Amino acid sequence: MPDGSTDTRSLAALVQPGRVHRRVYTDPEIFELEMARLFGRSWLYVGHASQVPSPGDFITTELGRQPVILIRHQDGTIRVLLNRCTHRGVKLLAERSGNRPRLVCLYHGWTYDTDGALARVPIDEGCAPGFRTCDFNLATAARTGTYRGFVFASLAPEGGGLPTFDEWIAPMRRNIDDIVDRAPAGEIALDVGVHRYRFRGNWKMQVENVIDSYHVPFSHASTVNRKGVQFSRREGDAEGAKVVDGQRTAASWKRRRGHDVGHGHGWTSNTELDEGSRSSPAWNEYRQALDAAVGRERAEQILTPRMHNSMLYPNASFMGLNMHIRVIRPLAVDLTEVNVYPIRLVGAPEAINVRNTRLLNVTHAAASFVQSDDIEAFARQQAGLASRQGDWVDISRGLDADEPGDEPGTRCAPSTGELLVRAQFRAWLDLMREA
Ligand code: FES
Ligand SMILES: [Fe+2]
Repeated sequence: MPDGSTDTRSLAALVQPGRVHRRVYTDPEIFELEMARLFGRSWLYVGHASQVPSPGDFITTELGRQPVILIRHQDGTIRVLLNRCTHRGVKLLAERSGNRPRLVCLYHGWTYDTDGALARVPIDEGCAPGFRTCDFNLATAARTGTYRGFVFASLAPEGGGLPTFDEWIAPMRRNIDDIVDRAPAGEIALDVGVHRYRFRGNWKMQVENVIDSYHVPFSHASTVNRKGVQFSRREGDAEGAKVVDGQRTAASWKRRRGHDVGHGHGWTSNTELDEGSRSSPAWNEYRQALDAAVGRERAEQILTPRMHNSMLYPNASFMGLNMHIRVIRPLAVDLTEVNVYPIRLVGAPEAINVRNTRLLNVTHAAASFVQSDDIEAFARQQAGLASRQGDWVDISRGLDADEPGDEPGTRCAPSTGELLVRAQFRAWLDLMREA
């Protein structure tokens, strides 16, 4: 970098026990390094198979700074292609989603098959001597991996100390299963729509927030009634979780645990709710459908809540209470896009899917009751960090007070502490080191 201030050693100085330097949220140079090193190398969530059900179906997104296409090839396989014509670099697909039997560049008409192979160059007699179309196929993500329909990619080849897909996904498989198994057909679909919005803050603020139980009684004070109980966020519940007791955080809320499972991944345990009294026409109909599909005993296991939110570091969270996948896209050091996809349980009665989506509209749409509080906090955090009075951001809650988790090599602690934020910064530093 220009002044050498972001070499590995100086980056390491920004992440100290229990605190991080405000530059990790505010410095555009560090942001560009994150795009190159962290988003340029880590495994990243790209999309779900249900978003591209038929050959030629595609979605477009960015992995860090790299525009990509997730597309279903004519043979049924899913590919992650770089969205960049190999002629003069034009972005091939500008739409967020659609279907193309072939990808035709709008500039000079170079035409690619859905696996990225260059199929046709107009006026081919004008090509340079020795020009071969096979040398101009679209670039593909260096590595891809899928788990239960979720597609992940890394833009860096294997090696260099980077985890394989299996190593990276292994600690979070159970958390993905936790949601997908709720579908009577054993699969989910992200075909309901998306809530998409931006906030004026650094991407890590959202990534830290999804596993933060500390803020809830304060940020979301408007969501609890006089008894300190939140509104019902789950189909079949008369009311939500007890969050506040008098002036204090409720004891049941403090019992929630955060689990650090490596690679920056983390998850928080469930919100304590009255499982026994859960009932509504849509819920009961769904229960019957799940019982019929997997048997009563297995259905009981599946519906016993275990997790609240799971963060697949660095760009996707899976939420168990208001079921959704949240994809976090950094746009600038102080600008982030959030994409919230409602989950449709395949094989479940329509009523429960409609109810789940409606509840998500109430909690995680741009103008909803829960997420809008968080977005406001992020924007204010970014504004506050512009101050140079005090360079450090405190993340020391529960420092050195964590315990072994329920799986080997994992750690856990109350999720009102900051164990998982510190774990994210460990992964951050590991990925930000020089290649
Ligand atoms: S830039 Fe795509 S065909 Fe020329
Ligand atoms: Fe929140």
